[in-house]
Amino acid sequence: MQYRSLGGSGIDASRVGLGTWLTGVEADERASIRVIHAALDAGITLIDTAPSYGWGRAEEILGRAIRGRREQAVIGTKCGIWWADARGSFNGQKEGRDTYICLQAETMRLEVEASLKRLNIEAIDLLQVHKPAIEPQLTPIEETMGCLMDLKREGKVRAIGVSNVTMEQLGCYQTYGNLDTQQCHYNMLNRGPERTFLPYCHGQNIASLTYTSLEQGLLTGKVTLDREFDPEDFRRDVGEWMPWFKPQNLARLLSTFTGWQELLEHYQCSIAQLVIAWTAFESRASHVLCGSRSAQQALENAAGGDIVLSDADAARITTDLDQLGAPN
Ligand SMILES: NC(=O)c1ccc[n+]([C@@H]2O[C@H](COP(=O)([O-])OP(=O)(O)OC[C@H]3O[C@@H](n4cnc5c(N)ncnc54)[C@H](OP(=O)(O)O)[C@@H]3O)[C@@H](O)[C@H]2O)c1
Repeated sequence: MQYRSLGGSGIDASRVGLGTWLTGVEADERASIRVIHAALDAGITLIDTAPSYGWGRAEEILGRAIRGRREQAVIGTKCGIWWADARGSFNGQKEGRDTYICLQAETMRLEVEASLKRLNIEAIDLLQVHKPAIEPQLTPIEETMGCLMDLKREGKVRAIGVSNVTMEQLGCYQTYGNLDTQQCHYNMLNRGPERTFLPYCHGQNIASLTYTSLEQGLLTGKVTLDREFDPEDFRRDVGEWMPWFKPQNLARLLSTFTGWQELLEHYQCSIAQLVIAWTAFESRASHVLCGSRSAQQALENAAGGDIVLSDADAARITTDLDQLGAPN
C-alpha cells in the first residue's frame, strides 16, 4: 500500500480508502466489522464515513471496530446533513425523515460532538463538509470555514475537507482558511474532474478523495449482463441515474474490459485493481475510496493500492476510455 498526505495536514493516509456507506445500511454488524478489520489488516488506514450513513449507525460500528486499533485508522467523517430539527435548507426526505443542509457553526459543533461520541475518539482526523449549502445566503462559507478552522485550533479536528462542491465554492472555502482535502465523484466513467478539481487541487496541495470509484461495482467486471440484483438493492433500477447500468452501455464497458486481458496478466491483477491503479495514477486522485461488501472485496481493493502502472499502460487505458466515450 502506498500512503499520501492529506493536503498540508501532515497526516498520511492510504491511497486506497474504505468507504462505509454500506456499513450504515447493512444489517449484519459483525460482517461490517470484519470488512473494516480486513481493510486495516491489509494496510488501509483511510476510512470514510458520515453521520448520515444509517443515521449514525456507520459511525457507531466504526467506533466499535477501531477499539484497540485507533492508531491504525485515519477517520474521515462529515458534517452538514442535519435532521434533528428544521434548521438549514430542506434537502429532501429520506427513509421517512426530513433532512436539511445546515452549515451553521452551532449545528456543526453539535454534529462534531455527536460524531466524537459515536466514534468514541478524542479527535476527528478529517472533517468534511458533506454537501455545500443550498441557500448560501443562510450560512455564508465564511461562517462554515471559520467554524472548521476554530475546531482545528481546538484540536477536535485535525484536517479539513469539502465534498460535492463546485470549483467556485472550493475557491471560496480556500479564501477563509486552509482546505486539506476535497471529495468528488470521479472514476473511469465520470472523468469531468480531470479538467477541474484534480489538476487544481494537485497544484494547491489539496488531496483529492474520489467516491463511487468503482461506479457501484460496475468497474470490477463483476456486474455482467445477466446479473440479478436483490429486490431491495438500489442498483436494480438505476439506469436513468447511472446510465452505465443500462444493458447497451454495460455491454460496451464489458467489451473494453475484455481488451485489457493482457494488462490483467501483466500486473497479475483483477479489473477492480487495475481500475484503482489507473484512478490513482500520478496526479489523478490522491486517495481512492471504495465501498466493500465483504472482507474479500476489501482485501482485493487494498491490493490495488500496490500496483503502479507504467506510463504506456496508463496512456493505453486512457485511450480506450476515450474511445468508449459517453453512455447512451
Ligand atoms: N461524499 C459523498 O457525497 C459520497 C457519495 C457516495 C459515496 N461516498 C463514499 O465513497 C464510498 C465508496 O463509494 P460507494 O460505496 O458509493 O461505491 P463504490 O465503491 O463505487 O462501489 C461499492 C460496491 O462495489 C462492489 N465492489 C467493491 N469492491 C469490489 C470488488 N473487489 N469486487 C467486486 N465488487 C466490488 C460492491 O457491491 P456488490 O458486492 O454488491 O456488487 C460494493 O457495494 C462510500 O462508501 C462513501 O464512504 C461519498
